[in-house]
Amino acid sequence: MKRIVFFTVLCVSAVLFVLSQFNCSSGEKAMSKDELIARGKYLVNIGGCNDCHSPKIMTAMGPVPDTTKLLSGRSANQPIAPFDTGSVAPGRWVLTDGGTSTWVGPWGISFTANLTPDSATGLGAWTLDNFINTMRTGKHLGTGRDLLPPMPWQSIGQLKDEDLKAMFTYLQSLPPISNKVPNPVPPTMLAQYSMKK
Ligand code: HEC
Repeated sequence: MKRIVFFTVLCVSAVLFVLSQFNCSSGEKAMSKDELIARGKYLVNIGGCNDCHSPKIMTAMGPVPDTTKLLSGRSANQPIAPFDTGSVAPGRWVLTDGGTSTWVGPWGISFTANLTPDSATGLGAWTLDNFINTMRTGKHLGTGRDLLPPMPWQSIGQLKDEDLKAMFTYLQSLPPISNKVPNPVPPTMLAQYSMKK
């Protein structure tokens, strides 16, 4: 009896060993959830997501992310300051507000999305596939409307699946913040924001 148990243990160990080798040779070892969150935080921080997606506090050296609202997108209650609509014709200026979260150009006005896991206003209802497909295609959820500038999906979408998974796992680990970002404004509607009224 003892022998059979010993043999079974030996066989199971051998199979596990072979499987672990296979896992290593077929790519990197799968990361644990904590490892994914740590790597995702690192990638989000160096990837500049805060530059556009976090509300800011203005300092003498320019805007810095408001750490109480990290990655919650362009604040819903922030008014759009009037601007010179002639300056954003194609080939001229692209404008951004002090929070670098509202962007005006030939595409109209875009507002940075809420990346926190709030279900109604952020990415709470998104799956990993939704996130990966959006970044790879530059279309909302992979099949919807084209993402507007200056969302840099062209470079973010070149990350490996495992890195996009890490980013998404980190974003989903943030405290959910309810902030309904406004819909984009099409170029034909820019006139109403003209400062020359
Ligand atoms: C230069 C500014 C900028 C940077 C940097 C930036 N984004 Fe964005 N992002 C935007 C804007 C603007 C939008 C809204 C685009 C729109 O409405 O079409 C957006 C939208 C998104 C969306 C929502 C897409 C959708 O389909 O609703 C996700 C997710 C996203 N960004 C993730 C990221 C991540 C992750 C990073 C960092 C790796 C990042 N962004 C960096 C500007 C930026």
